[in-house]
Amino acid sequence: MDGAAWRADTEDLVRFALSVYRRSRVSFALHLHERLVPLVVLLFSVFSIALLSAPLRRKTPVEGSKEAIHSALPALLRFICPSGRSVWPPSYAALAKRASKSKKKLFVLPVDLLLHDILLSNVELRNAPEVLPALFRAPLAVGHYQLSLQVSKGLRAAAVRWFLSSQMLNVFYQPAPLSARIFEPEKHLPPPTPSRHPSLELTLDSVRSAHVESWIRALKNTCEKGETVAIHFTTLNPSVHLWSKELVLCAVPFLPRRYQGKDKKRTSNAATRTSAPLATPVHRILELLTSGNSGLDVISLNNISADYLAGLNHHAQNVEDNRNLRTTMIDDIGLEGWREERLMFSWEAGLYAANLLTRWVIMLRK
Ligand SMILES: *[C@@H]1O[C@H](CO)[C@@H](O)[C@H](O)[C@H]1NC(C)=O
Repeated sequence: MDGAAWRADTEDLVRFALSVYRRSRVSFALHLHERLVPLVVLLFSVFSIALLSAPLRRKTPVEGSKEAIHSALPALLRFICPSGRSVWPPSYAALAKRASKSKKKLFVLPVDLLLHDILLSNVELRNAPEVLPALFRAPLAVGHYQLSLQVSKGLRAAAVRWFLSSQMLNVFYQPAPLSARIFEPEKHLPPPTPSRHPSLELTLDSVRSAHVESWIRALKNTCEKGETVAIHFTTLNPSVHLWSKELVLCAVPFLPRRYQGKDKKRTSNAATRTSAPLATPVHRILELLTSGNSGLDVISLNNISADYLAGLNHHAQNVEDNRNLRTTMIDDIGLEGWREERLMFSWEAGLYAANLLTRWVIMLRK
């Protein structure tokens, strides 16, 4: 009984509510135009005032960023350009804005950003053989601006890790000098002393500091009387301080590649290069090679930086122009990997050209 009564009550309530709602709608509709007209007028005037005053208020910042983009970004064009779309990624417009506001007109370009955008083909390097070495040495004057590379904490940490880890002893190390590969660009170099073709050409690039001595011992045992050996290695300019920005720039091409391709264990020279030669001065390497009763005589020591950097630049160009080589590389390490490899050849060449690195070849005879 109670349930039925309650049901009747709710039905009444609903009916009542509906009728109130309908009545209120009618009255609202009746007075709608009276209420709406002044509202529309008010809104329209507020909107038009805002519209008219906007250019006055916004003038300064718009001019500021336009000026930045028109003066700072073209300066950057001497070094890099946006690829394909010919539109700068937003981060560069932001950097340009900051540069135009800075007192010294310093355009600070983070190395990480640069590497990332080159690998993804957002930007491209221009005149790498000319501009990279200049930029490695000091801020580069471009128009009214000074272009400078900036090293991030992350990159510095990666360089330090690489530097320290290749100083450490590897307990699994097997000195096998005969397997030490000669770097691709060096294969095209003329032999250091034309009259004497070395029977062995080796490089210290992939030998850890702690193993240089055992490597040399193994080499002595491998050589036969009368044989000539050429050993290639790179040293750091003594003026480069430990943990300086220059040292990090020098480390960039030696760090493990971001793109390792399908074959992770790719015995790429780049993937296995250590900091040992960089951390060992020339005289120390000479000492190590000739110490004790080694039975190895030094015939010559030559600075081959000029030829070596020409070889690197040639290789960077060849990787781009030679269709077969390009296809093989892209199949192996992907498009980004190929771009990375090409960039690192140019980068390393730039370091020799900037005289931050020196390439040597030492000729020895047993
Ligand atoms: C090595 O050769 C390069 C190029 O010829 C030269 O600029 C550089 O000063 C030389 N370095 C040393 C340490 O002799």
